[in-house]
Amino acid sequence: MSDELNEIHSHDVVIIGAGGAGLRAAIEARSLGASVAVVCKSLFGKAHTVMAEGGMAAAMGNVWKEDNWRVHFRDTMRGGKMLNNYRMAELHAKEAPDRVYELEEWGALFDRTKDGLILQRDFGGHKYARLAHVGDRTGLELIRTLQQKATSMDIDVYMECKIVKLLKDSSGAVTGALGFWRNTGEFVLFKGKSFILASGGIGKSWKFTSNSWESTGDGHALAVRAGADLIDMEFVQFHPTGMVWPLSVRGLLVTEGVRGDGGVLRNSENKRFMFNYIPEMFAKETADTEEEGDRWYEDKSNNRRPPELLPRDEVARSINSEVKAGRGSPHGGVFLDIASRRSPEYIKRRLPSMYHQFKELADVDITATPMEVGPTCHYAMGGVRVDADTAASTIDGLFAAGEVAGGMHGSNRLGGNSLSDLVVFGKRAGEYAAKRALGMTKDVEVDQAEVRDAINEALAPFNRSQGDNPYKIQQEIQDTMQSLVGIIRNQQELEQAQVEIDKLKQRVNQAGASVSTRRFNSAWHTALDLISMITVSESVAKAALLRKESRGGHTREDFPKADPEFGKINHVVRIVNNEMTVTPEPLPQMTDELAEIFKDDVK
Ligand code: FUM
Repeated sequence: MSDELNEIHSHDVVIIGAGGAGLRAAIEARSLGASVAVVCKSLFGKAHTVMAEGGMAAAMGNVWKEDNWRVHFRDTMRGGKMLNNYRMAELHAKEAPDRVYELEEWGALFDRTKDGLILQRDFGGHKYARLAHVGDRTGLELIRTLQQKATSMDIDVYMECKIVKLLKDSSGAVTGALGFWRNTGEFVLFKGKSFILASGGIGKSWKFTSNSWESTGDGHALAVRAGADLIDMEFVQFHPTGMVWPLSVRGLLVTEGVRGDGGVLRNSENKRFMFNYIPEMFAKETADTEEEGDRWYEDKSNNRRPPELLPRDEVARSINSEVKAGRGSPHGGVFLDIASRRSPEYIKRRLPSMYHQFKELADVDITATPMEVGPTCHYAMGGVRVDADTAASTIDGLFAAGEVAGGMHGSNRLGGNSLSDLVVFGKRAGEYAAKRALGMTKDVEVDQAEVRDAINEALAPFNRSQGDNPYKIQQEIQDTMQSLVGIIRNQQELEQAQVEIDKLKQRVNQAGASVSTRRFNSAWHTALDLISMITVSESVAKAALLRKESRGGHTREDFPKADPEFGKINHVVRIVNNEMTVTPEPLPQMTDELAEIFKDDVK
């Protein structure tokens, strides 16, 4: 191999990422008898999963007996503006309830109805209250439960290890993943029969984000650089409510659960401005009663809904418009008010993390004072193109589940659908990856020359003694994406973004490691993260330039309406001969039985 490589681990299934999808995949693969490795860049259990605070969507019908998988499927497809992979949305809606009950069986402590059933909360875009939850700490509870289950199952966990390259055998199947330990800088090779990407999102390429430092799009970049397809990369979700102040925590999530539990949005004139932004496709009529707190609009299914619970894309755009019109809060957001609508006891019981978050970080008591909030980059709808049933990517031996996989949410994800997505497709990825591995009779081969090249590439920042400062490049990528490929986009800015990204690409190739030691060298780690960040940034900007319409999370001020022709295609991103290409491809055709569910929808 290489003098640099002293450590090799072989497993049937190697999972990259230890959030909800990775853990659920590990449990499934192990339970089928596969030997399993979970490799994570950060500490075991530290994942963006915890930022899905308000709940996990599943049509269990505990609060509304009328709820069922068909309604959940329809809400999900409508929320994604019909661009979703319909089969993923179908499987998700059908299987989510079982995944919730399974978590309950494994020890998750869900909140309860008076009758002792799992309580379900309201969230944007869901017709019925359907989010199983644990106060405002649902993601944390999901991780805790899965972690406890996984650690009882003889699964090998490799923490603080960053994977830099996927390696393929002569047939083109993925057989290896090269990484390094973040503490020592020593290289390690994972050989496997199946690999599952469960590495989460890309939010760190924007300036204001709910994502933590790990979310640099490593899985997306590893996949596309290894030859896999990405899909729908133009669709990035800006969650309407992140903290806007203090600046040091700008972007930190304020759960949609605040609005689900009765919180309302107001502008600087104390007006519930969301009534001015109800799109025709959602509303039948609006009502304006004497009691400010009781205001609602009537949706097309004759439900009374507060407009704060429109899908996230609608709410985020509306906040943006209010701020632009000069009706924002002092720190450039709007006000989220639950204090005037619910008792302090209720708020502390239902939203304990939000209470502490604002008290500790902003010295604001949310039981007495409104919160200042604004949109924050939260979630990538785009990701690795997968087969809906098996979670297999377009290259052999590689599977993907969770946020790193694309297709499930179309152009916009409904809140609460991410936790259910993680466990539904985590389980499926684990199952099919294990079956592939257990069906293979031969050991896998990893090309030694490929390993050597990958190590040399990873060490390149040490050869650049005068190299560019990686932190500065990171900041410039974030500034570029925030200002030119943000929540509202246009042709001129997207073209400018391509120019900036091309320049930044050159600079990423010149980023230095600052000092020569490989131990705890975070400048080196950042220099390698930049490769992922620039790859995903380029894919988002290129796909966004081509989509000349507004749909879901992608808003073009120069093309403010949805275009039916773009409603028929997904954008597929590939790297061909070192060049990134974006190609429109027709949506998979929905079955007649499912299409029937939408027969009354206005086209
Ligand atoms: O607002 C939230 O609690 C986030 C949930 C989600 O992204 O699914």
